[in-house]
Amino acid sequence: MLKVTNLHASVDGKEILRGIDLEVRPGEVHAIMGPNGSGKSTLASVLAGNEKFTVTGGSVEFLGRDLLAMPIEDRARLGLFLGFQYPVEIPGVTMANFMKQAVNEQRRFRGEEPLTAAEFLRLMRERSAVVELDPRLTSRAVNEGFSGGEKKKNEIFQMAMLEPRLAVLDETDSGLDIDALRIVATGVTKLHTAQNATVVITHYQRLLDYIVPDVVHVLYRGRIIHTGDKTLALKLEKEGYDWLINDHKE
Ligand SMILES: Nc1ncnc2c1ncn2[C@@H]1O[C@H](COP(=O)(O)OP(=O)(O)OP(=O)(O)O)[C@@H](O)[C@H]1O
Ligand SMILES: [Mg+2]
Repeated sequence: MLKVTNLHASVDGKEILRGIDLEVRPGEVHAIMGPNGSGKSTLASVLAGNEKFTVTGGSVEFLGRDLLAMPIEDRARLGLFLGFQYPVEIPGVTMANFMKQAVNEQRRFRGEEPLTAAEFLRLMRERSAVVELDPRLTSRAVNEGFSGGEKKKNEIFQMAMLEPRLAVLDETDSGLDIDALRIVATGVTKLHTAQNATVVITHYQRLLDYIVPDVVHVLYRGRIIHTGDKTLALKLEKEGYDWLINDHKE
């Protein structure tokens, strides 16, 4: 479903991604770990089409299409969802209106009828329950004045509304209290099916107790330097990254 081949990307002439290879198949959960500044968020940004970054080499195929050639809106419409480390605020636009537009645009793209107001409300009620999101938040402006944890929950709520084929979640666990972490992670797991896939970027093994990964990758200095199964995360938790990165220092 996602095939990243030898992806290179830079910002302000500085190369950040230095040859990423990653293949994600339907039904899989991948975790990407790695020290601060190794390029994890950059990878998510490049997939999202953030114009700050320049792709200088390689290719990305998503559902058989050339992702990098696709306009940003089409990436989302086709079923790519990015949950960001620092979710943006959209003042003046309520969550409900924002989501209604997003959901209906996606439906139009798929050739489906837009949801009626009643259908939309029902969907919103059902999906906000998945992450135990306070329903009052949906009448507030997107992320404006939301607490850090509320923003993260809100992202998973958006994911639940959009039912993406591939979700890339960047540090969805950071800043969550212990209960919220369980709720959010369980929410992600509930949304997982054999047809969709999830990539979670995280620093901590504890998230992976809930969202059990099939594959764990370590990103370091813009490259995936090691790949293993879920036990790799446990080993990293105990031993840190030193044993892996010594060979890759310059
Ligand atoms: N706009 C930018 N201008 C200059 N350097 C940038 C920019 N964006 C990212 N970088 C650099 O790219 C590198 C990778 O950053 P990135 O945010 O992808 O790391 P990360 O792996 O997500 O780290 P963390 O675990 O701290 O979130 C860092 O050295 C960062 O300073
Ligand atoms: Mg990051």
